[in-house]
Amino acid sequence: RSFSSQLQSGQKRRSSFGIAFDIDGVILRGKDPIGGSPQALRRLYGDSGNLNVPFLFLTNGGGIPESRRASELSELLGVKILPSQVLQGHSPFKSFMKRYENQLIVATGKGEPAVVMSEYGFKKVVSLDEYASCFENIDPLAQYKKWTTKQALDRSSLPLKTVPRYDVSSETVKAVFVVSDPVDWGRDIQVLCDVLSCGGLPGQENGHQPQPPLYFAADDLEYQAAFPSNRLGMGAFRIALESVFNRIHYNPLEYVCFGKPDPFVFKNAEAMLKQLQPSYHSDNFKEPGDFGLQSFKTLYMIGDNPSVDVKGAQQAGHPWFSILTRTGVFRGKRNHAEFPADLVIDTVEEAVDYILGREC
Ligand code: G3P
Ligand code: MG
Repeated sequence: RSFSSQLQSGQKRRSSFGIAFDIDGVILRGKDPIGGSPQALRRLYGDSGNLNVPFLFLTNGGGIPESRRASELSELLGVKILPSQVLQGHSPFKSFMKRYENQLIVATGKGEPAVVMSEYGFKKVVSLDEYASCFENIDPLAQYKKWTTKQALDRSSLPLKTVPRYDVSSETVKAVFVVSDPVDWGRDIQVLCDVLSCGGLPGQENGHQPQPPLYFAADDLEYQAAFPSNRLGMGAFRIALESVFNRIHYNPLEYVCFGKPDPFVFKNAEAMLKQLQPSYHSDNFKEPGDFGLQSFKTLYMIGDNPSVDVKGAQQAGHPWFSILTRTGVFRGKRNHAEFPADLVIDTVEEAVDYILGREC
C-alpha cells in the first residue's frame, strides 16, 4: 500500500523522510511559481488536505516576518503554508534576542528589516533608513535620491506600533544586522562604515573604538530573481562593504554570516522538520510522550545553487541528500564540478516525483 493511503487509513507510520525546498530559483522566480512548484507541493498533502510529508522552505532570502512570508507563499502556491514551515536567512537572528534585547541595534535590507527584528523580540531596533535620516548630511547623495528622501521623511508609513523612535544620534549602536539584500548600497556602505568605525556613534572621532558586531543573514554572491541572468546577492554587498571598510580602516572588518551553506542552518531545519511531524499526524500518534522526534532516514534539500544549497547539504552530512534543479543559478547539462549534487534534475516537480517514487 502506498505511504499516503496508509496515513489516510490511520495506520501508524511516520514519514522517515522530509524535504527542504529552496525558494528563489526552485519554487519561484521573482513572484512567479516555476518548475511546476504548485503541483509538486500539492502532492505532499493527502485528499483531506493534511500534510503527508513534512516539508519546509529553507531560503537565504527574507525581509518580512516568517508569518507574512507563509501567507504570501500560501497565496502564490495554492497550499496552506504554516509560519513554522518558513526558515529564512535571518531566522537565526532570534537567538541573539537575549544578548541585545534592550540595546540599540540597526537593521538593514529590503522589506521591513526593523519589523522582522521587532517580531523576534528586539526592543530597540531602528532601520538603517530611519537611522540615516537622524543624521543630517550623513549621505551627501541623498538629495539626488528622491525616493530615499521621500521614504525617510514619510514617517507615517513606518509601523509606529512595532518600531519605536529613539534619539539615536547620541546613543551607541550595539550591533548591526543585515537582514535582507540592502536596497541603497552606496548609502548603506557609507553609514555602516561610519557606525562600525566609530564604535557605534557616527560623526564622532573618539580615537580607536571596538567595532560593534556585524551579522549578515546570508552570504549568497548571486541568486536567481525575475531577470534572466543571476542577480547580485547579499554576499556581493558584503564584499563591497568589506573592501571599502578595509581600505579606510587599519583593523579589518569583522562579521558573521548566517544562512546556507552553514551546517547550523541544516541542523535547525532538521529539528524543525521533526517538530512539524507530529502535529501533522496528530491523529496517528496518541501514545503519551509520543512526540515523533525520531530521526529521519533521509532529508532532501532541493536547491538551485551548488555553492549554497548543495555545499550546505554536503557539509551537514547524514541524513541530507542534495537535489540540484536547472531552474535557477545552475544551468549545467551534467553535475556541478566543485559541489556535485546527489541528483541533478530539471525541475522541482521532477524532484518531488523522484522522492515519492524512491520513498513510497
Ligand atoms: O535574496 C535571496 C537569495 O539570496 C536566495 O534565496 O531562496 O535561493 O535561498 P534562496
Ligand atoms: Mg535559490
